[in-house]
Amino acid sequence: MATTHSEYNEKTTATSVASAFADQIRGRNVVITGVGPNSLGEALALAIGSQQPAKLFLASRTEAKVQQVADKVRELSPTTSIEAVTLNLASQKSIHAAASKIQSQVDRVDILINNAGMMVLEKETTEDGIEIQFGTNHVGHFLFTNLLMDQMKNAAKSSESGSTRIVNVTSAGHRLSPLRFHDYNFEGKEVPVDERPPDGLPPMFSPSAGGYNGWLAYGQSKTANILFTVYLTQHLASAGIVSYSVHPGCDQGAATMLVAAFDPSLKCEF
Ligand SMILES: NC(=O)c1ccc[n+]([C@@H]2O[C@H](COP(=O)([O-])OP(=O)(O)OC[C@H]3O[C@@H](n4cnc5c(N)ncnc54)[C@H](OP(=O)(O)O)[C@@H]3O)[C@@H](O)[C@H]2O)c1
Repeated sequence: MATTHSEYNEKTTATSVASAFADQIRGRNVVITGVGPNSLGEALALAIGSQQPAKLFLASRTEAKVQQVADKVRELSPTTSIEAVTLNLASQKSIHAAASKIQSQVDRVDILINNAGMMVLEKETTEDGIEIQFGTNHVGHFLFTNLLMDQMKNAAKSSESGSTRIVNVTSAGHRLSPLRFHDYNFEGKEVPVDERPPDGLPPMFSPSAGGYNGWLAYGQSKTANILFTVYLTQHLASAGIVSYSVHPGCDQGAATMLVAAFDPSLKCEF
């Protein structure tokens, strides 16, 4: 973050960054995934909501929690148009329904912030049978992003190149595991050396007898967020859309995401 704004540091708030990029937020349609009380999604929603986006979609799993945040944004920014959308990224049916709801209301999406994320220690699967962290954190966002692609391309047609953006929220935890192309579901299949975790990890990251470790699965999903970002920019930059992947850190997390979403001085070239 400090590379484009040396004045920003660990004390910089999301609201102050949103206010600095007010011109990039005003009048634009923004979608944020993963919004609940006391989450980074809430900080993003309050900050972006304070700068008059045309429409702010808050898409998340638990309806009551999204509504709570939507009400808070409305209270602080009464003229901002907010829509709460139920989105369960662990269900492809729910992802289709959420994307349809957004498409029925707007024909352009300027900014998509794929922020939702989960971490579990015990192995579970999504409704569609995918290991739940890979399925939620990456595959769910992959599908959601692709379903909104026409709306993003439409926004890019009448916007400055590079200002239509997809932000994928990763984590420093990506260092725990590469993408296990040969065994992304942790089914005990042999993986080549370059798909295995790095040597020397502490015992808490060792796979159980069944071959699963929740941290490694989280790491794989966060590596996938980064690879997806590279792919998106390589394939969409010519259409004016760029993608950034950010590790939010803990305290200044939402501020970092806002720089990735709105800072016009960021340049991404392939
Ligand atoms: N906070 C950190 O220190 C940190 C560090 C590195 C990376 N990150 C990343 O930053 C992002 C936000 O983290 P956070 O700390 O704000 O996490 P959080 O407080 O746990 O919030 C995560 C949000 O994602 C939603 N979510 C979880 N599963 C979902 C699903 N299946 N479908 C739709 N929404 C779902 C949650 O919904 P519910 O309200 O229903 O639970 C919640 O609103 C995540 O991608 C995380 O991996 C965070």
